[in-house]
Amino acid sequence: MTRTIAIANQKGGVGKTTTTVNLGAALVERGRRVLAVDLDPQASLTLALGHDADALPRTIYSAMMAAMKGEEASLADVLQPTEAGLDLLPASIELSQAELDLTREPLGIYALRDSLNGFADGYDYILLDCPPSLGILTANALAAAAEVVIPLQADYLALKGVDLLLRTIGKIQKRANTTLKVRGIVLTMADLRTLHAREVVEAARETFGQTVPVFDTIIHANVRLKEAPLIGQSILAYATDSPGAQGYRALAQEIEL
Ligand SMILES: Nc1ncnc2c1ncn2[C@@H]1O[C@H](COP(=O)(O)OP(=O)(O)OP(=O)(O)O)[C@@H](O)[C@H]1O
Ligand SMILES: [Mg+2]
Repeated sequence: MTRTIAIANQKGGVGKTTTTVNLGAALVERGRRVLAVDLDPQASLTLALGHDADALPRTIYSAMMAAMKGEEASLADVLQPTEAGLDLLPASIELSQAELDLTREPLGIYALRDSLNGFADGYDYILLDCPPSLGILTANALAAAAEVVIPLQADYLALKGVDLLLRTIGKIQKRANTTLKVRGIVLTMADLRTLHAREVVEAARETFGQTVPVFDTIIHANVRLKEAPLIGQSILAYATDSPGAQGYRALAQEIEL
C-alpha cells in the first residue's frame, strides 16, 4: 500500500521542504521506496535534492496539465533520481502558471491525483511538498493525499496559522477527499534551551492535542539542516549523527508505527 502524505502549512519557512527531503531520506534509509513531489513554483525541493529547476526538460506542471486535459500523464518523463535516494517529480517557476490554469478548471483540484494515478504503485511513500499558501496547488496535494503532516515552527506566532489550515483541511474532507486524515503536527526548529520554545511545545500539545495528534518527535534547530541542501544532500548523508539527522530518523520511525 502506498502512503501519500502532504507536507503542508500555508505559513512560509516553517520546515516543509526540509521535512520532505529528510523524512524522505530517513524512510529510504529504512528500505522504503519514496517519491517526493515538488508542488512549489519556488522549486526549493528540486534544488535541495540537487537539481537545477531551469535546466529540467519537464516538471510536474506538464503532467498535471496533461491530466487536466484527460490525456495520459507521462510521469516517467518527468521523474528524476536524486543522490538522497528518493525519486523526484521536480517543479520550476512554470508551476506558477498552473495556479491560474487549474483555478479556472472546474475539476482543477484533482489534477495531481489524476496524474499520479497508476504511477503511485511502485512506491511505499509519496511525499508532497506544498507551497506556502492555501491556493490550488496545496488543495491539489490535499485532494491527492491520504494523510497530512503539518510542520510547525516552535514559535508562538506560528501557532496562530494552524486553525486556518485545519479549517481548509476540513473543507477538503467534506468535499474532495473524505478519507483525508491529519497524521500529525511536527514541531520544527525548536531550541529547547529557551523557555519560549518549551512553552510553545507545551502550548501546541495543549491547543491541538485534543483534535490533532502532535508527534512525540521534535525537530531541533540545527544549522546542519540549513547546510545540507546547498550541496543537494539529505542531512543523513551530510551530517549523519547530527541532531537534525537523529530527529528525522525518529520522525520516520514514528510515521511507520
Ligand atoms: N530544524 C531546523 N533547524 C535550522 N534550520 C532549519 C530547520 N528546518 C529548516 N531550517 C531552515 O529554515 C529555512 C526554511 O525551511 P524550509 O525551506 O524547509 O521551510 P518551508 O516551510 O519549506 O519554506 P517555504 O514556505 O518557503 O516553502 C531553510 O533555510 C531551512 O534550511
Ligand atoms: Mg518549501
